[in-house]
Amino acid sequence: MRVVLGVGGGIAAYKAAELVRQLEQRGHDVQVVMTRAAREFIQPLTFAALTGKKVITDLFSGENANDTLASAVEHIGVAQNHDVLVVAPATADLLAKFATGQADDFLTTLHLAFTGAVVLAPSMNTAMWEHPATQQNLETLRARGCFVIQPDEGWLACGTTGAGRFPDPERIAAEVDLLTEQKKDLAGESVLITAGPTQEALDPVRYISNRSSGKMGFALAEAAARRGARVTLVAGPVHLNAPPNVRLIPVRTAQEMRRAVLESLESATIIIKSAAVADYYLAEVPKQKLKKTATRLSLELDPTPDILAEIGEKKGDRLLIGFAAETDNLIGEARRKMAAKHCDMLVANLVNREGLGFDSDRNEVDIITGSGKTVHAGPADKKEVAEKILDQVAMLRLSLSTAETKS
Ligand SMILES: Cc1cc2nc3c(=O)[nH]c(=O)nc-3n(C[C@H](O)[C@H](O)[C@H](O)COP(=O)(O)O)c2cc1C
Repeated sequence: MRVVLGVGGGIAAYKAAELVRQLEQRGHDVQVVMTRAAREFIQPLTFAALTGKKVITDLFSGENANDTLASAVEHIGVAQNHDVLVVAPATADLLAKFATGQADDFLTTLHLAFTGAVVLAPSMNTAMWEHPATQQNLETLRARGCFVIQPDEGWLACGTTGAGRFPDPERIAAEVDLLTEQKKDLAGESVLITAGPTQEALDPVRYISNRSSGKMGFALAEAAARRGARVTLVAGPVHLNAPPNVRLIPVRTAQEMRRAVLESLESATIIIKSAAVADYYLAEVPKQKLKKTATRLSLELDPTPDILAEIGEKKGDRLLIGFAAETDNLIGEARRKMAAKHCDMLVANLVNREGLGFDSDRNEVDIITGSGKTVHAGPADKKEVAEKILDQVAMLRLSLSTAETKS
C-alpha cells in the first residue's frame, strides 16, 4: 500500500519515526509530509533517512518533488499516487483545519485533494482533546468517513495524566492494515449498538448491576466501523476505551440507555442490542444512604423499560438484532424472544460457563438468522465472534435489499 504520512507539530512528532518503521516493516511504501510546526520538533532528515525519500514540507518551494512525482502541482500528484493518508500526530490545529476545509499548507491542501482512506491519530493535552471544539471537529471528520484512532490515556509530556497520549505506533500501523484489508460490506449503514451493564441506584452510594463487561458490544462496534458503517455505541458503565471511529454515548441506568437509544434511532439502519440491561430498578431512590440495621432489608423493585421490545415496535424497516443471555434452554428461549420482540436476528449465548460470555474475552454463541437457521460461532475471542455476527448481519441486509429490488 502507498501511504502518505502527514506529521503534525505535536510533542509526539518524534514517535512518527517509529510509525514509519512499523509501516515499512508491514510492506507499505511511505512518503512523509511535515507541517512547519512539525519541523520545530523533529528534523526532516530523520524521515528522509528512514524512507529513502525527500520529505515534503512546502506547498510552493518546488523543491519537494521526488523524481516520480515531479509536478508543479505536487499536492495533486501525491494525492493521486497514494492509497492512504495517515496523519500522526494529528494536532488539534490540523483537526480544525481539516474539519473546516482549510488548505494553507501542503498537508491541509493534500487532505482536500485526497480521495483515498484518511486515518487520523490525534495526540494532544487532555484539555485540548476534551475541548468541545476538538470533539466537534472529530465528529465532523468521522461523519465524512475519516478513521480516527482514539488516543491512549496515560502520562502526557505536559506533566498531566489523561486522554490524549499518542497511541503505540504498532497499534496505528495495525489499524492501517486492518482498514486497508477490511471488507466494506456495511458501508452506508448507520449502526446503533448498545453494550455493557446498567447500574440502578439503591441509594446515593449503592446500586444493582450485573457482570457484563461490554466487551462483546465494543468488539461489534469496532468491527462495524471497520466494515464501513457509521457507528453509535450506547454503553453502560464499562472499563473500555471507545473503539476507533465510533461515537460513544456513555449512560448509567436503563432509563438513560432507553433515552439515548430512542434519540439515536431515527438515523439508524441497523440496531444491535447487546447490552445487559437491568430488569428491575428502584423507582424512589432514597436521598440518604440506607443505614445498616440488625433486621432484614426489603426493597420493592419495579421492572425497567423493555428497550428491545419498544424498538421492535418502532423499528420500521431497520434491522434489529437482539441478544439473549440464558442459563438453560438456550435455543428455545432465543426463538421465543426473537418472535416476541420482533427481532430480525438473535444472538444467544449460555452465560453459566467458566471463561466464556459475561466478564470474559471469549464467547460462544448461536446466531438465529432471519431465515430461522442457526449458525454457531466460537468458542473464540469476542472480536472474532463479532466478525461472524456481522457476516450474518451483512448477509441479511444484502438478501433483504436483493428481495426489495426484485419485488
Ligand atoms: C512544546 C509544544 C508542544 C505542543 N504539543 C502539541 C500536541 O501534542 N498536540 C497539539 O495538538 N498541539 C501541540 N502544540 C501546539 C501546536 O504546535 C500548534 O497548534 C501548531 O500550530 C500546530 O501546527 P500544525 O497543526 O500545522 O502542525 C504544541 C506546541 C508546543 C510549543
